[in-house]
Amino acid sequence: MASETQSRTPQSTAATLNSAEVQAELVCFEPACRARFAITEVLYNCPKCGGLIEVNYTGSRPDAATLRKLFRDRRLSNDPLDVSGVWRYRELMPFLDDYRHVVTLGEGNTRMLDAPLAASYGGMDRLTFKHQGFNPTGSFKDNGMTCGATQARRLKMRRVACVSTGNTSASMAAYAAAGDLEALIFLPHGNISFGKLAQALEYGARTFQVDANFDQILALVRVLAERIGIYLLNSMNPFRVEGQKSIVFEMMDQRDWRAPDWIVLPGGNLGNTSAFGKGLREMYELGLIDKMPRLAVIQAEGSAPFHEYFARGAKGEFRSVEKPETLATAIRIGDPVSWPKALYEVQSSKGVVERVTEQEIADAKAQIGRCGIGCEPASAATLAGIRKLTASGVIRRDEDVVAVLTGNVLKDPDYIYRYHTGTLEAPGGVKIQSTYGNQSVVVPNDADRIAELLRERP
Ligand code: F0G
Repeated sequence: MASETQSRTPQSTAATLNSAEVQAELVCFEPACRARFAITEVLYNCPKCGGLIEVNYTGSRPDAATLRKLFRDRRLSNDPLDVSGVWRYRELMPFLDDYRHVVTLGEGNTRMLDAPLAASYGGMDRLTFKHQGFNPTGSFKDNGMTCGATQARRLKMRRVACVSTGNTSASMAAYAAAGDLEALIFLPHGNISFGKLAQALEYGARTFQVDANFDQILALVRVLAERIGIYLLNSMNPFRVEGQKSIVFEMMDQRDWRAPDWIVLPGGNLGNTSAFGKGLREMYELGLIDKMPRLAVIQAEGSAPFHEYFARGAKGEFRSVEKPETLATAIRIGDPVSWPKALYEVQSSKGVVERVTEQEIADAKAQIGRCGIGCEPASAATLAGIRKLTASGVIRRDEDVVAVLTGNVLKDPDYIYRYHTGTLEAPGGVKIQSTYGNQSVVVPNDADRIAELLRERP
């Protein structure tokens, strides 16, 4: 294990503007409480009221024109801090006192891809995907994990832990390995795709599969974290949220700071929704963008407590789903931790929450594949949601929409194979139609026969 002082970015000499003039602190998210704590405290919930914790900044920051130029110039730099699509925007998440703590794998830098076929499937004139599956471990979690692992090193924590539907664990395992931290991973037994589990094993994490669902294991891990002093890197960790803001920072930078009308994303534990909203508000306050895009959060029908609450006008108790079900295992979450933050962000962006069926997710996913792009099932909820929202007139076909694909197509190959061979079954045994199926054909080692087959169906 590395010594406590060893730098993870030894070759970095990159400058940071005005970091001394900004103060970062932890603040309770609940408006009635807003208790404040030092940025170096280990907190996931407010000790006073139990509310979620967020990072808050005070003090002056560089103006919008200076920041835009700075971020653009850094794209020419080879310094690891500037190369990272997260730390490139460090003035917008200035919680760190010393950038030598940074653990980076060159995360972010994900593409914006136009997808005409998906656009027409979704009832749009045009549609752009921001593909977070192009990250080092293949999901958007890397944007947050670089910050979470960095804060763990800053706090001199040795062990980090998470419960995960798969992607968080793959990401945490990689960043823990890169940062000389011990990774402890808790997974719902039998409900994680092999691609994700394989990553955690390969990166050397200790993995524990528990016979319980995500929500139950999260409760278990919280008890353990307190008892044996491990640093939790689930998305209620406020530094994960800080890092995930960079997804929208980079998106706006790539669009020359022109905000779209809508940003569409899948919703599970709702950490990403919270991060996008916070990032967009902060950019708007700094004058980096001149309007707030509306957020559209899409959930899978069998795991849609946030949709249910929103559809009820967000009144009364938030009701969790006791037995969440969906083949999009990444968003198989019935009791999303970050719902209060996500609700605030969706409401303040005049956004919406939609839900989609298993069949809708599967077909949308195949359409994204046909664009030559591909994604994992949870990500495809975005296009399925867009199709519903244009059909109901909530999104107009000529609006400017960016959908965020959260995970790489190779995360869940089993699902793909089953869909295309007509053997995919939704929870409860309902068969998923292979609407856009593409079967592999077994042929003899015979040129005449193959040529004949190709003449039959060019
Ligand atoms: N898409 C993918 C591919 C995910 O892995 C997740 C969450 C989400 C969407 C939902 O994001 O939770 O911020 O609303 N995966 C978590 C995990 C829960 O453990 O990997 P969210």
